[in-house]
Amino acid sequence: MALAPTATLGPSLDLSPEHEMIRQTAREFAQKEIAPIAAHFDETGEFPAETIRKMGALGLMGIEIPEEYGGAGLDTLSYVLALEEICKADAAHGTIMSVNNSLFCYGVYRFGSEAQKQKHLRAVASGKAIGAYSLTEPMSGSDAGTMRSRAVREGDVYVINGRKSWVTSAPVAEYIVLFSMTDPDRQHRGITAFLIDTKLPGFVLGKKEPKLGIRASATSEIVFEDYRCPAECRLGEEGEGFKIAMSVLDAGRIGIASQALGIAEAAYEASLAYAREREAFGQKIGQFQGIGFKLADMKTRIEASRLLIYQAALAKQRSKETGSRFTLEACMAKLFASETAMFCAHAAVQIHGGLGYSKELPVERYFRDAKITEIYEGTSEIQRMVIARQELGIK
Ligand code: CAA
Repeated sequence: MALAPTATLGPSLDLSPEHEMIRQTAREFAQKEIAPIAAHFDETGEFPAETIRKMGALGLMGIEIPEEYGGAGLDTLSYVLALEEICKADAAHGTIMSVNNSLFCYGVYRFGSEAQKQKHLRAVASGKAIGAYSLTEPMSGSDAGTMRSRAVREGDVYVINGRKSWVTSAPVAEYIVLFSMTDPDRQHRGITAFLIDTKLPGFVLGKKEPKLGIRASATSEIVFEDYRCPAECRLGEEGEGFKIAMSVLDAGRIGIASQALGIAEAAYEASLAYAREREAFGQKIGQFQGIGFKLADMKTRIEASRLLIYQAALAKQRSKETGSRFTLEACMAKLFASETAMFCAHAAVQIHGGLGYSKELPVERYFRDAKITEIYEGTSEIQRMVIARQELGIK
């Protein structure tokens, strides 16, 4: 990708020429390289290593990370624009990109030591290695503070034991940001973050998750069996893990919102084209109010999602200067965009009728891929809970 200098939205809501160029570059790559292979990788569930490698070479795997640490040195708006375009072609590629950028690179850049940035961040932001993030456990999903995995300090290492679930990219990741309990008596304040090297003994891949959608992204359980993590690979201080996990999820949720927007747009554009072309009862089906109203609702929700995502991206960008939180903006963008993706994918299948249910078109894939955006990185119920707490001033 010919990378442009950083810029932000101007006084109007129009994108700057630099941002337009980034969007166009990502769109061309996604439509040329990813869209033609998306159905194959969805069907087989294989990991699309070759296109992910090319995305790394284009600077898409560490968009906001400064060039000195292997990234592209761009801003958050560039990130959401590029991610939306990738997801419009294939949400599974988008999941891999989003986790790499938001859940791994952002966390290591913000909380890592210089040595960790040079080693772990540089490799992952440049796309030479893949990064993952592991918070969830079999008995600890939405209630993330109740994890049972243990990390016990023994001299210069932490000995880690336990099982983690639903780890995006775990089967292909070289490094994983892991959250584990170092002091169970302190509950969420006893959680610590670590940078795990998956090549070290004691790291074991668990069962691969057979998923409804985003099937080309590799997801599995991971198991720690007396894994010895060097103390210099602790991310942040002991007990800071929960706050790191939540701050990183704020960034991650903007990524998932952009993914949802990409899926929604793909579903909408397919529906619009079909409504213009398909005839029934002597007219184009778009001329029926039942179809037209669906298209109107899809378009309106898509544009509203976009504004929430841009607002969240600008809030995150500002936070780089001010350190302010962007939790509210990120949760609102994810909540609305993910429900929009599901709404649009559902409508798209209905508009296409039998064809929408067929694997001959990508519409059924949009439907399956959309659902995860309402679940991972915090369900819609969790987003509503966080938004309400923020507004009520409870947290
Ligand atoms: N930024 C910084 N700090 C934060 C924070 C944020 N966004 N949110 C909470 N905190 C802090 C609070 O200030 C509080 O600090 P103190 O200890 O000083 O009081 C502390 O964290 C605990 O906060 P809460 O009391 O609000 O915690 P809670 O137990 O009520 O839980 C929750 C809050 C929002 C429900 C949280 O548990 C949550 O987000 N759950 C969902 C987890 C999730 O999204 N999981 C998905 C994992 S990733 C994934 O999907 C897989 C993948 O690979 C993509």
